[in-house]
Amino acid sequence: MQRNILITGGAGFIGSHLVRHFVRKYPEYRIVNYDKLTYAGNLENLKDVENEPNYVFVKGDICDEAALAAVFAKYDIDGVIHLAAESHVDRSITDPLAFARTNVLGTLALLQAAKTAWKGEYEGKRFYHVSTDEVYGALGFDGSLFTEKTPYAPHSPYSASKASSDHFVRAFHDTYGFPCVVSNCSNNYGPYQFPEKLIPLFVNNIRHSKPLPVYGKGENVRDWLYVGDHCKAIDLIFHKGVSGETYNIGGNNEWSNIDLIRLMIRITDEELGRPSGTSDSLITFVKDRAGHDLRYAIDSSKLQRELGWKPEMPFERGIRETVRWYLDNGSWLDNVTSGAYIEYYEKMYSGR
Ligand code: NAD
Ligand code: TYD
Repeated sequence: MQRNILITGGAGFIGSHLVRHFVRKYPEYRIVNYDKLTYAGNLENLKDVENEPNYVFVKGDICDEAALAAVFAKYDIDGVIHLAAESHVDRSITDPLAFARTNVLGTLALLQAAKTAWKGEYEGKRFYHVSTDEVYGALGFDGSLFTEKTPYAPHSPYSASKASSDHFVRAFHDTYGFPCVVSNCSNNYGPYQFPEKLIPLFVNNIRHSKPLPVYGKGENVRDWLYVGDHCKAIDLIFHKGVSGETYNIGGNNEWSNIDLIRLMIRITDEELGRPSGTSDSLITFVKDRAGHDLRYAIDSSKLQRELGWKPEMPFERGIRETVRWYLDNGSWLDNVTSGAYIEYYEKMYSGR
């Protein structure tokens, strides 16, 4: 079946994997990647699909209602997968307004644009909002997990803005019968993640023998999922999820930060051919992140039971391949940390 799907934030980490997944798997679909190309967006991430006939890139802001209306009209969009967001907790602590603008107002502008374009005819339409487990707040070490029924209790400006956007999406469903699905996923890892997030930042620092800043005691726990498994879940939910429903996605793979960091050090030293223990002394305990959530862990049994998804990538393999990818793509790391690519693409797309 021919479809025209708008993916927002497709030049970012998860978005670029998702765009590649859809462009390759569904040649009969037209995939429109709509992205503002902030510091986190990088078209280098999509070099291998940029010339595919079913792929289009549009540079634009999800807060720009006129630009969105033009895209919906020009490409006859019938499905939206919304990933565009400000995504880094530490940045949200220093600039919360930017998170409210993009994550809350931008999501609302996108909902409005879809609602206006679809004119109440929702048969065959779908608006998929990609969200995070951080909206549920923090768990203790007691073994309990986040389910779809866990009450929202966000602590950071990032998670508060994502929680707010989730509520707007559900409000559109409940108020207008708008055809929405929402998923809340745990921490992703894999290639093309911007090196301000834990895994790529630490691999890059180990590569340059720079200190590894561990927040607090490193006891916080995250549930890590390979980005390719997240994309397969999004594909399933987009096509088979029930309108108005929420699905939790997680790796069933909890690691304390310090254990994960020690594993990354071991693997990175091995892959660099350094003697075991070379980078251990780079670990540097620093002041804790304000409002740092102790533990996130997802119960994804609804998605597994109802749609037949399960995580496929074994963590030992996924993390080694991911470390190897960053080491093999040192120039990608150097470019995104130098800002050179931002100037390059700004020049390239200015005036379009
Ligand atoms: P990212 O920061 O790597 O990418 C975000 C993308 O959105 C970038 O390409 C950026 O240019 C674009 N963007 C930002 N503001 C925009 C705007 N105003 N208009 C248009 N485009 C804009 O983020 P990510 O880690 O790939 O996360 C993608 C989505 O998945 C986010 O909504 C995030 O909340 C959610 N999520 C992420 C994780 C994770 O572990 N990374 C886990 C669960 C959910
Ligand atoms: P991060 O990758 O920022 O994801 P999130 O905050 O969305 O879970 O951080 C993952 C964990 O690693 C989190 O508990 C914070 C911690 N962390 C550090 O200890 N040092 C760092 O430099 C970073 C970026 C994160």
